Amino acid sequence: MKKITVLDLKRMKAEGKRIVMITAYDYAFAKIFDPLVDVILVGDSLGTVVYGYETTLPVTMDDMVRHTSAVARGRKRAFLVADMPFMSFQVSPEKAVENACLLLKEGGAEAVKLEGGVTMFETIRKITSCDIPVMGHVGLTPQSIHRMGGYRIQGREKEARKRLLEDAKAVEEAGAFSLVLEGIPSEVAEEITESVSIPTIGIGAGPYCDGQVLVMHDLLGLFLDFKPKFVKRYAELAPVVEEAVKEFAREVREGKFPDSEHTFFLEEK
Ligand code: KIV
Repeated sequence: MKKITVLDLKRMKAEGKRIVMITAYDYAFAKIFDPLVDVILVGDSLGTVVYGYETTLPVTMDDMVRHTSAVARGRKRAFLVADMPFMSFQVSPEKAVENACLLLKEGGAEAVKLEGGVTMFETIRKITSCDIPVMGHVGLTPQSIHRMGGYRIQGREKEARKRLLEDAKAVEEAGAFSLVLEGIPSEVAEEITESVSIPTIGIGAGPYCDGQVLVMHDLLGLFLDFKPKFVKRYAELAPVVEEAVKEFAREVREGKFPDSEHTFFLEEK
C-alpha cells in the first residue's frame, strides 16, 4: 500500500489521471475511505454537516484540530488535507502560519486548504515558505457567504470570469500544490484547469477538473437538509440508519434486546 504524497497528485495531473477526494470528520469513516480515495479533506463543512450550524463561519481551530486528529488516526495511505476555518488565516500571514502549523503538528494533517485568490497571495506564500503544502480554494467560497449574498454560482459574467482566472493563477504563483474550484460554470473550470500547472479539484465545477470532491454526508445520503444540483447521492443511508434504529427501539420496548447471545453470564456457556 503506497502512501500518496503531493508528488503523486502532481504526477496524476501530468498523466491525466483523475484525483478522487472526499471529506471525513472522524476515525471510523476515515478508515473506510482511506484505501478508496487519493485525498481525504477534513473540511470546515464540518460546521454544517456535523455540528448543524447554518454556515461554516462558527467553526474554530480547536474543532478543526480535534477532527483532523481523529481522521489522521484512521488514515494510513490517502493524503490528508485540513481546512483552515474562518478567521484563522485572514487576519495576517503570521497568524495563518501559526494556525497552519497547528493543523500539522497537533492534527496530523499533511497540508492545509484555505479560501481566497489574489487577496491570499501573501498568506499562501508565507505558509508554503514554511514547507507546509497549501491547497487553494476559489469560486464559491462558503466563508464569504455574506459578501456573495448567499451560496451563488460564481464567474458567470465576463468580469467575474476574468477575476476567477486571476485568482487561480495567483494561488498557483503563491506556491499552492492544488486548487479547489467550487460552484463555477464548467467552461470556466475547464479554462482554469488548462491554464494552471497545479491539479484542480472540482465541486459543482463540472467534469473538466483534474479531480472531484464531494462532502461525505452528501455522497452517502446522510445530509437531507438540502441538495444542491451538483450533489450526486451514491447511497441513501439515512433511511437505512432510520430502519436500524427503529428495529433497535422496537426490540428494546418489547424486551427482545438484549437476548442471551448479547448478554454476559457468570459462567459463559
Ligand atoms: O469544507 C469543505 O468540505 C470543502 C469542500 C466542499 C471542498 O471545502
